[in-house]
Amino acid sequence: MGRFLIKEEVEALRRSGQILGEVLKKIRSLIVPGVRASSIDQVAEKEIRRLGARPAFLGYRGYPASVCVSLNDEVVHGIPRDQVVKEGDLVSIDLGVEFDGFYTDAAFSVVVGNGNALARRLVEVTREALYAGIKKAIPGNRIGDISHAIQMVAERNGFSVVRDLVGHGIGRALHEEPQVPNFGKKGQGTLLEKGMVLAIEPMVNEKGYRVKVLKDGWTIVTEDGGLSAHFEHTILVTDGAPEILTSWERG
Ligand code: MF3
Ligand code: CO
Repeated sequence: MGRFLIKEEVEALRRSGQILGEVLKKIRSLIVPGVRASSIDQVAEKEIRRLGARPAFLGYRGYPASVCVSLNDEVVHGIPRDQVVKEGDLVSIDLGVEFDGFYTDAAFSVVVGNGNALARRLVEVTREALYAGIKKAIPGNRIGDISHAIQMVAERNGFSVVRDLVGHGIGRALHEEPQVPNFGKKGQGTLLEKGMVLAIEPMVNEKGYRVKVLKDGWTIVTEDGGLSAHFEHTILVTDGAPEILTSWERG
């Protein structure tokens, strides 16, 4: 985290999050059997630019696309190519936006069509873990309170949280201090203060928490081939309830 944000900067951050939310909603409507990952990416890039923003992932450390599309045992950072989405796939979408120098980051998972009950439950539990973490993002709490809340939701449902990848501070850059792990102890880590901006992003695995990187250098998959789901929001710590800057699922 850098210095505190002034009002105009918070407005730019809010706009960044609104644009991201709008594009995620559009992407959600595209996820039907037969859609190609590359066409999701094309639409995402076009929509972001149409709304006056820039895709934050494109070119980030050489990443070649605007969106990450991760299927089934892919945890995160799947590169959209010619993969075709099928009925029953667990699809995770991750997107970052930069507007006027301010970054937001958000992700969701969905099971295409009916899928199986386990995949649907993994998605619901991961969403619940995200919101349990967000609830703890209040002044006076510490990062560990967020981490612990996320881990509890995942593990009491028999799932595991990925250790090797974490949430993060965000705002003037895509990744800032502090790290926001999805596992940890209450009362530990950085003290939360009003004005902090955090990307909270549980990655929850059906079986073991271990992951590995594919040969493309980006795609992270579960080591045991189990399913994985991912939800993320960028939030602003306020005096009261956290403000979800990238909200889009309701309304
Ligand atoms: N949302 C991802 C994260 O915070 C960022 C993806 S980086 C990219 O970890 F290079 F893959 F785009
Ligand atoms: Co992130």
